Amino acid sequence: MSRLVVVSNRVAIPGENRAGGLAVGLQAALREHGGMWFGWSGKTVREASGELHEQRDGDIRYVTIDLNRSDLDAYYNGFANRTLWPLLHFRLDLVDYSRETREGYRRVNALFADKLAPMLRDGDTVWIHDYHLIPLASLLRERGVGARIGFFLHVPMPSADLVAAMPDHARLFSTLYAYDLVGFQTLRDVERFQDYVRLFGGGRVLSEGVLEAPGGRRFHAAAFPIGIDTAYIAQQAQAAVAKPAVRDLRNSLQPRQLAIGVDRLDYSKGLPERFRGFERYLERHPDQRGSLTYLQIAPVSRGDVAEYRLLRNELERIAGHINGGHAAPEWTPLRYVNRNFAHTTLTGFYRAARVGLVTPLRDGMNLVAKEYVAAQDPEDPGVLVLSLLAGAAYELKEALLVNPHDLDGVADAIATAANMAKAQRIERWRAMMDHLQRHDIAAWMRDYLSALKR
Ligand code: G6P
Repeated sequence: MSRLVVVSNRVAIPGENRAGGLAVGLQAALREHGGMWFGWSGKTVREASGELHEQRDGDIRYVTIDLNRSDLDAYYNGFANRTLWPLLHFRLDLVDYSRETREGYRRVNALFADKLAPMLRDGDTVWIHDYHLIPLASLLRERGVGARIGFFLHVPMPSADLVAAMPDHARLFSTLYAYDLVGFQTLRDVERFQDYVRLFGGGRVLSEGVLEAPGGRRFHAAAFPIGIDTAYIAQQAQAAVAKPAVRDLRNSLQPRQLAIGVDRLDYSKGLPERFRGFERYLERHPDQRGSLTYLQIAPVSRGDVAEYRLLRNELERIAGHINGGHAAPEWTPLRYVNRNFAHTTLTGFYRAARVGLVTPLRDGMNLVAKEYVAAQDPEDPGVLVLSLLAGAAYELKEALLVNPHDLDGVADAIATAANMAKAQRIERWRAMMDHLQRHDIAAWMRDYLSALKR
């Protein structure tokens, strides 16, 4: 069996406990095939030596590299998170169009290629993840790597005209043609990619999912909606109910219901809109006054990027405004928390919440939506309020689907969710849970890897 080599900006090194569902899933695949996970160590150093750090766990090697401050600023804080991230989330207004960071992005990708190429064998299967590493396959090919190489974009593929607004877009996006398989979260993403290739990328769409690059090289594109470890999360959530943090939360709510949101503090998540939608709910449904507390957990993310700091200030202002206008001496309608919690604790919080609020303005998939569903009590499940603009909406059709910009719609969906009869909650939950059990993280990995090897 061929060796699997996974490459991503962040590497989930065992014991470092930032392991989410993807990390758990990839580790399972690596264990099955034996192989290596390569990426940034998460550390910045004054003078990067280029030295590789290696850790072993059974048959899996974790190989990471430090970056120096200026590379990290140009590559991660710069081009990846100030140019590509907003572009891929349809936010041309936030795109940094300056040229400086582009070179740093290329430099770090070339550094990854320099380090990785000598470690690869022809029979390997290489799987590269996300927007930080788009050009990596083409850089590996330049270094003589003949292995099969696949890419998976965890975030949305935007409409072709938006991509075309980026200076020099073809230079970057045509490097995707060096892969054997380019995977996306949804069929819509595949369609938008095909449109881009056809309209601005100089290539051709031979048939659905079969593309031809300008020089004649053929490659594939397909949708692989990412899943979660459904059974594990269900079991984790059930056990988490006994955890002190979860009990304390429940006790602090009595007798009120809970609505919960858990998101990285990111402008793609639609948090200001969600806060305002909740305020609208308080205004439009005075009969329900005091019956629901909304807990928003939003760990600070990418704090070195200016847009993220501005967002944090904005949310503090809105949260203060909502509570100032609506709180009572014995009740705070909105609890806003920036700290992070252990994943198990979060699943316990999800299970305690009658309403799950997942209303991004754009999201490749959104795994919180899936985890919220998987964490519910089958006998008394909560209701998911989900943005139509998240990839998850293509699968979780029994959620209450909302347009996150439509504050009245969000407000009414919260009211509907909070008052939905049990039979209807169970029916909706069952349908979504069946789907999540069939399409879990193991199925995602199997589907992707077998398509890559085909
Ligand atoms: C998104 C991206 C991931 C990224 C994660 C956390 O989900 O698709 O690639 O790792 O956000 O962001 P961070 O910048 O902290 O890695």
